[in-house]
Amino acid sequence: MEIIKAHDYAEMSAKAAELIAAQLLLKPDCVLGLATGSTPLGIYDELAHKVAAGSLSFSRARSINLDEYVGLSADDRQSYAYFMRENLFKKVDFADGANNIPNGTAADVDAECARYDSLVEQLGGIDLQLLGLGPNGHIGFNEPSDAFEPNTHLVELTAETIAANARFFGEGEHQPTRALTIGIRAIMQAKTVLLVVNGEAKAKALRDALFGPITPRLPASILQLHPRLFVVADEAAMSAIDR
Ligand code: GLP
Repeated sequence: MEIIKAHDYAEMSAKAAELIAAQLLLKPDCVLGLATGSTPLGIYDELAHKVAAGSLSFSRARSINLDEYVGLSADDRQSYAYFMRENLFKKVDFADGANNIPNGTAADVDAECARYDSLVEQLGGIDLQLLGLGPNGHIGFNEPSDAFEPNTHLVELTAETIAANARFFGEGEHQPTRALTIGIRAIMQAKTVLLVVNGEAKAKALRDALFGPITPRLPASILQLHPRLFVVADEAAMSAIDR
């Protein structure tokens, strides 16, 4: 693994955006695995600026997002489909139909999960997977559990994750407790994984993910086995790592 230390969130975002830009330059028709949450917002801003400046294009790339809340349609302001449209897709030049997100309102959840896994295969796998880190070590919505779940699946979110994400929901606003998430196989088969982490609240999870035992109790720990893992983290997130 390669750990790239950044001073703060802005520098983390700029460095991670450079890696994604390099992927697009090397392979313009690449498949990008994309993430939601507050962590990638700065990266998406940086990428949008590069496109606006004419130094980067997504026109031949495809994307596949990690996860979506069950029960929220793509028009719902709390859906990850909406998040991606607002924060990246409408600001860059992806072709129509190039972006993929699990359908949180699919009537047949099993069929939707199978469709999503087939889609990853049809796309030829993921070239670069961008990941944030949950405070409990989740990646996508792969929550701590007894076994790593290889396939796209329905997940009951843990109380900790629901609490961590409550900040995105207004008072009285419905917060889903279930999600569809891509599984560990598609993430681990990505040619490159880019894990971005900021803030002291994630310091222990980051240390355990990178240097603790590999266990489904801390899903991100499996990334230690990935042959091409880049970690871009700010000083606060790195503060529990003493080497
Ligand atoms: C969310 C998302 C993850 C994300 C993580 C961290 O629940 N499903 O993909 O990486 O939690 O979120 P944040 O970046 O807001 O801390």
